[in-house]
Amino acid sequence: MRNVLLIGIAIFAFTGCSSPKNEKASQESKVLEYVDFNGAAEEIALPTPDKEGGMALLEAVNKRKSTKEFKTEKLDIQTISNLLWVANGFNREDKRTVPTAQNKQELELYVVFKDAAYFYDAKEHSLVLVAKNDIRPDLILYNQTYVNDAFLNILIVADLELAASRDAALMDAGFIGQNIYLYSVSADLGAVARVSFNADALKEDLKLKENQEILLNLTVGVPNN
Ligand SMILES: Cc1cc2nc3c(=O)[nH]c(=O)nc-3n(C[C@H](O)[C@H](O)[C@H](O)COP(=O)(O)O)c2cc1C
Repeated sequence: MRNVLLIGIAIFAFTGCSSPKNEKASQESKVLEYVDFNGAAEEIALPTPDKEGGMALLEAVNKRKSTKEFKTEKLDIQTISNLLWVANGFNREDKRTVPTAQNKQELELYVVFKDAAYFYDAKEHSLVLVAKNDIRPDLILYNQTYVNDAFLNILIVADLELAASRDAALMDAGFIGQNIYLYSVSADLGAVARVSFNADALKEDLKLKENQEILLNLTVGVPNN
């Protein structure tokens, strides 16, 4: 049986912040845990995502934009949990936060950190290790090195045998992308959708099957502005 390690190490914990908004956030999340996503654990259980609160939708839409300059700051595990759930988690027993053509649910997420990459198991709401090295060089084309500063990169991967069609999978990926943009605004993060990556190399890095295709990358982190 696979050795499952559950991460419970808090590297930093903040219990108080100055602004009213941050006070509310700290009350909701209580303790913010910063986990090292470095490949030491084969599986990382994510905390239950927050399913209420956040910025008002219209305000988030008004503030949505692409961020292409990031600080190298870490994100706490609650924020990562929220982000992945918003992006492609289950909000009903068998259906997700995003629609898919014919309810094929052909899209899954892979999350790339500096030292390791993980599969997001949406049903278990956990991260499963798939690569134990820095694969970010394969995420970068045209000198878009800001990718290295952002804390994480989400890859949207389609199972083209399962999808209604490749066109449908591409459309479905857009819903995930927009959810990531809007959650990022709501959480004071920056995000950018990207297609400038080395798809063949990443496919190998992530040990994807022939029928799987990486459709879109969302780079997410603390904005530098
Ligand atoms: C499908 C798609 C692919 C994109 N690919 C890249 C990319 O490879 N590199 C990049 O820096 N920005 C990329 N972008 C971001 C666009 O440059 C950005 O959305 C556009 O300039 C409009 O800016 P805004 O998002 O702030 O409105 C992409 C956006 C989309 C929707």
